[in-house]
Amino acid sequence: MPDAVLRYGDKELTLPVHTGTHGDAAIDISKLRAELGLVTLDSGLGNTAEGEGSISFIDGEAGLLSYRGYPIEQLAEHASFLEVAYLLQYGELPTPTELEAYEESVRRHTLIREDMKHLFEAFPHNAHPMQILASAVSALATYYPDALNPLDEEAVDISARRLIAKTPTMVAWSYKYRVSQPYIYPDNTHDYASNFLKMMFSVPAEEYTPDPVVAKALNLLLVLHADHGQNCSSSAVRLVGSSHSNIFSSVAAGIHALAGPLHGGANQAVLEMLEDLHQNGTSVETAVKRAKDKNDPFRLMGFGHRVYKNFDPRARILKKQADEVLDALGIDDPLLDLARELEEVALNDDYFVERKLYPNVDFYSGIIYRAIGFPADMFTVLFAIGRLPGWISQFRELLADPATRIFRPRQLYVGPATRDYVPLDQR
Ligand code: SDX
Repeated sequence: MPDAVLRYGDKELTLPVHTGTHGDAAIDISKLRAELGLVTLDSGLGNTAEGEGSISFIDGEAGLLSYRGYPIEQLAEHASFLEVAYLLQYGELPTPTELEAYEESVRRHTLIREDMKHLFEAFPHNAHPMQILASAVSALATYYPDALNPLDEEAVDISARRLIAKTPTMVAWSYKYRVSQPYIYPDNTHDYASNFLKMMFSVPAEEYTPDPVVAKALNLLLVLHADHGQNCSSSAVRLVGSSHSNIFSSVAAGIHALAGPLHGGANQAVLEMLEDLHQNGTSVETAVKRAKDKNDPFRLMGFGHRVYKNFDPRARILKKQADEVLDALGIDDPLLDLARELEEVALNDDYFVERKLYPNVDFYSGIIYRAIGFPADMFTVLFAIGRLPGWISQFRELLADPATRIFRPRQLYVGPATRDYVPLDQR
């Protein structure tokens, strides 16, 4: 790829251009300030690559996503969540022996310290599950003080397995406290998704067998959420990790970023939007009209994306999956019909077409989570469980790169010019 040449005043600077696997290119501006005294301005960082990455690739124009080169459609069809967690972290699909060893190592860490119950019981019953999850993940760091060094590969590896193993247990236990039911311990005879379902929905008084249809749907949802490049929450994990903060603190930062309604919090907001439209009998035409009105803060949640200017491939898969899960469970959810109608009207409206606003991963996921039985305010926590291997892989990739430096962006200062202090009695 030819270099770029930047002309500024009477100066000219040649900037190297790096090329990615799929032909995408990036101008290296690391010499810009030293040579021309300039920095770049890119609000929201939509045109800025923070670094090179090898974990997932997104072609926003074509609506394509792959993890370590494997198309999401194929992984969604064939892979288990732990298989994908292995792939994202170690770069290759595991052999049967590697997968069995990885699954066994995760199974061995599904228990959490008994005293974590005091943490969950310290929260009000209506605490948002994302706030509790971020606190619990931060708290994990306090139990493993000897395995916090982010530059110690072994420490990071065991911490990664603990995070992936213990998070479903922490989520289920905080839920059980909220609904005043007994804590259900992990049962390692089950696979990852089934174990989580049992901890969430079983009670000691009755036999509980996880529904294989539901377990398969949950596995798919976790796979689809596993990684997505430098999204807001993964960038938060990398930024905190760049200061050599430990992996638990970095992932906790990612959880807080994901909680925002513009990001992972959108899956809860989509369901609340659909319920509101359904309960008030608002037509989809009215909803679309409101979403286009700049004076109306209403947005079509689950629509639009910084990178996808085409259908989010995950939304395409989930749209189909929603049908299958609801049919298999014999659920006729009017919100699914409403979502479909909303999508249809929006995708034929110039405002959405011109801006290339399509359904994203959050548009259909909530309908499936609801069919499984999760409360709406837990949907983003489910997104977080799925995104854990992605956050962990991004953290590991960053810390393994010797060229990594602490993140410290510049700003263009437009505040007051230098001025003298005015004594209080003269103001
Ligand atoms: C996720 O980055 C990732 O990879 C994220 C994610 C992942 O896997 O990690 O994919 C997960 O976060 C998906 C996104 C979930 N969020 C939502 O569904 C919330 C609703 N969507 C929007 O708020 C918005 O589309 C964003 C936040 C997703 C993207 O915001 P951008 O890129 O900053 O786009 P923008 O706000 O500048 O919008 C461009 C235009 C604007 O109109 P104009 O100024 O051109 O007139 O599109 C409009 C916006 O007003 N617009 C919408 C809209 N989304 C954008 N108008 C109505 N409804 C919407 N949903």
